[in-house]
Amino acid sequence: MVKLELLLKNMEEVDWDKIKITIPINHSYIRNYPNTAKKFIEEAGFNLEGSVLDVACGPASLGCLHNNVVGFDSVEEYIKILRKKSIRGIVGDIRDIPFDRKSFDQVVCVNPPITRVYEKREKVLSETFEGSYHVVAIKNPKSYAEHLVRSLLQIARKKVLIISLPITENLRPVKYDCKIEKEGKHSIIYNAE
Ligand SMILES: C[S@@+](CC[C@H](N)C(=O)[O-])C[C@H]1O[C@@H](n2cnc3c(N)ncnc32)[C@H](O)[C@@H]1O
Repeated sequence: MVKLELLLKNMEEVDWDKIKITIPINHSYIRNYPNTAKKFIEEAGFNLEGSVLDVACGPASLGCLHNNVVGFDSVEEYIKILRKKSIRGIVGDIRDIPFDRKSFDQVVCVNPPITRVYEKREKVLSETFEGSYHVVAIKNPKSYAEHLVRSLLQIARKKVLIISLPITENLRPVKYDCKIEKEGKHSIIYNAE
């Protein structure tokens, strides 16, 4: 069985009723996310097509814009919230993304966790946004950003979109074997074909 099917099957076996939502949930963020995400994606000049992995998806995810989305986030409560809306989700860590090569047509990562590189280069980020308390300890934002984009490119068949100013700034100048299709201030689209 391919990794994706196995991971989705593992998620089916979780006793979701036992997972209580204990972290603060920003409901207006969730309600507004279809508009917010649509704006981000359009500004980047991207079209969601085919199967999409939404990395660091949060409690709303791109599943609110496109049918064929799998969310991926370290916060199991967020995945529970997605499941309630019939959006598939997998709990996991962005630093060790578990999918096989070429598992999704598109891999999208909008505002992934990253340290505040401008303020404290050496310090750990302890909050990513309101409601999220998961920490990614990043000593070297540049190598984190490069590792992230390499992992995303491996699992994408067609395109990778990253929307994040701290990440895109740390990816420049970018030299990979794949083509950069479009670059914006906050976004980079890679052609993974
Ligand atoms: C700023 S939010 C972005 C959420 C959503 N993509 C958006 O556009 O609003 C960052 C997300 O990264 C998730 N996150 C934090 N640490 C993570 C990790 N180590 N692995 C996977 N996801 C993580 C958080 O739970 C949160 O949902």
